[in-house]
Amino acid sequence: MEITAPPAGPPVRYDDVDVTDPGVYEECQHARWRAMRADTAITRHTEPATGEVFWGFPRYAECDRIVKDHRVFGSEDGTILASVGVGDSAGGRTITLMDPPLHGDIRRPTMRTLGHSVVRKRAAGIRERVRTLAQPCLAGGEHDFAKLMRLLPMVVIGELMGIPDEYWETIAHYTTASIAPDDPEYVSGESTHQTLRRAHHELFACFARIIDAKRAHPGEDLVSALITLETEGAPLDDLRVALNCYSFLLGANSTTPHVASHTLLALAERPHLWDAALADPSSTTLLVEEGARWTTPTNHLVRRVREDTEIAGTTLRKGDWVCAWVASANRDESVFPDPYTFDPTRSPNPHLAFGGGPHYCIGAPSSRMALGMLFDELGSALEGVEPAGPITHLRSNWINGITSMPMRFHRRRSSR
Ligand code: HEM
Repeated sequence: MEITAPPAGPPVRYDDVDVTDPGVYEECQHARWRAMRADTAITRHTEPATGEVFWGFPRYAECDRIVKDHRVFGSEDGTILASVGVGDSAGGRTITLMDPPLHGDIRRPTMRTLGHSVVRKRAAGIRERVRTLAQPCLAGGEHDFAKLMRLLPMVVIGELMGIPDEYWETIAHYTTASIAPDDPEYVSGESTHQTLRRAHHELFACFARIIDAKRAHPGEDLVSALITLETEGAPLDDLRVALNCYSFLLGANSTTPHVASHTLLALAERPHLWDAALADPSSTTLLVEEGARWTTPTNHLVRRVREDTEIAGTTLRKGDWVCAWVASANRDESVFPDPYTFDPTRSPNPHLAFGGGPHYCIGAPSSRMALGMLFDELGSALEGVEPAGPITHLRSNWINGITSMPMRFHRRRSSR
C-alpha cells in the first residue's frame, strides 16, 4: 500500500468498500481509517465469501485491549481476515494460533533462541551478513532495494532458527507467495488456490528435510527447540514442528523487508532528514521504531471472542469475530502527535506494529537489531538515496508491502 497523508477536506466515506478485498489496499487507506476513527470506535462488516459478520476497531484504545486481553480475545481460530467464518486449519497447533496457558509451552523454549541475550551474542555475525546483503547499495548506483531486502529476515534468523542458507531463497519466496497468492509477482498457477498449494508444498518439503537433519544433529537453534519441547506431556510431531516453522518464517518474511523498504522510501522522500536520522546507532534506533509505526506491515490482527464482553459501548458475544486495525491505531491522533508526519526522533512511540500481550512479536529483538544495523551501514556509506523507477506494492489486505523499489544510492564523497 502506498503511504500518503490524507488530504485536507471533508472526510471520505468508509462504509462503501469491501475491506477484505486485496485490491482496495492498492490505494492508501489512511484517509478511510482517519474518517472511521473520527466517526466511531466500532464498525460492522460482512465477510463476502462466508457471509460472516465481523467487527472492526480503528482506534488505538480498543486495538490495544484486543491484542493484549487474550482471555477475552482468542487467537486459536485465526488471526487474519482470511480466517473469519472458516477458522484456520492450524488452529491450536502453532504459536500464533494458540492461547495461554498452552501457548507458553511453545513460546518459552523458542524465546530462548531468539531473545535479546542470544541476538546480542550473535551481533557481529548478524552485522556481517546484513552488510554483505546491502553491499550493492553501499557501493552506490541503482538497485531494486525491495528485491534485495527479501532476504533480510533470512540472513538474520536463518542461523538462529538452524536453517541452512541453501533454503533461504526458496523460503523467502514461498512464504510471501502464501500470504499474497493474488500478487502478480507470486502467482505460480492458474488460480489463487494453485499458487497456495504450490507454496505450501515447496515450504513443507524444505521443512521436512530440515527437521530430519535436526533430529539427527540437534543444535542450539529454534528448530531443535521445537523438536525437543513438550506440550501437554508430549513432544510435537513432525507436522506440528513444520507448522510452527511456517509460523516463525511467515512472521519474519512478511514484515521485516517491508519495514526496511518503507523506511528507506520515507527518507528518500524527505532528504533533509537523512543525516540526522542516520547519525549514529541511537538515532537509527529511534528511526527503526518510527519506520515500524509508519509501515505497520500487518494492517490488521483478527481475534475471536471467547466470552461475552463489552467494548466501545457494544456487547459482543462469544464466537464473534473482531478485527483490530493496527495500521489505523498507529495513526491515532490521540496517541501520536502529528501522526502523518514521519518523525525519526519520535519518542515516546508506543506503536502496535509488533502487536502486544502474550503474542508480542517474538522476532522483535532480532528484527530491531538487523534494521538498526542496516540503516547504520547505509548512513555510513551513503549521503542519500532517491527513487529511480516505479514502485510496486504487494497486493494483500493483510500485509502492507513493497515488492519492487528501484533506488539510486549516492556514495559519500568523504567518510563520516
Ligand atoms: C519488523 C519486523 C516484524 C514485525 C513488524 C512483526 C510483527 C508482528 C506482529 C504484529 C505480531 C503479533 C501477531 C498477533 O498478535 O497475532 C507478531 C508476532 C510474531 N512474530 Fe513478528 N514481526 C516482525 C519480525 C518477526 C521476525 C524476524 C520473526 C521471526 C523470528 C517473527 C516471528 C513472529 C512470531 C512467531 C509471532 C507470534 C508470536 C506468538 O504468538 O507468541 N516476527 N509479529
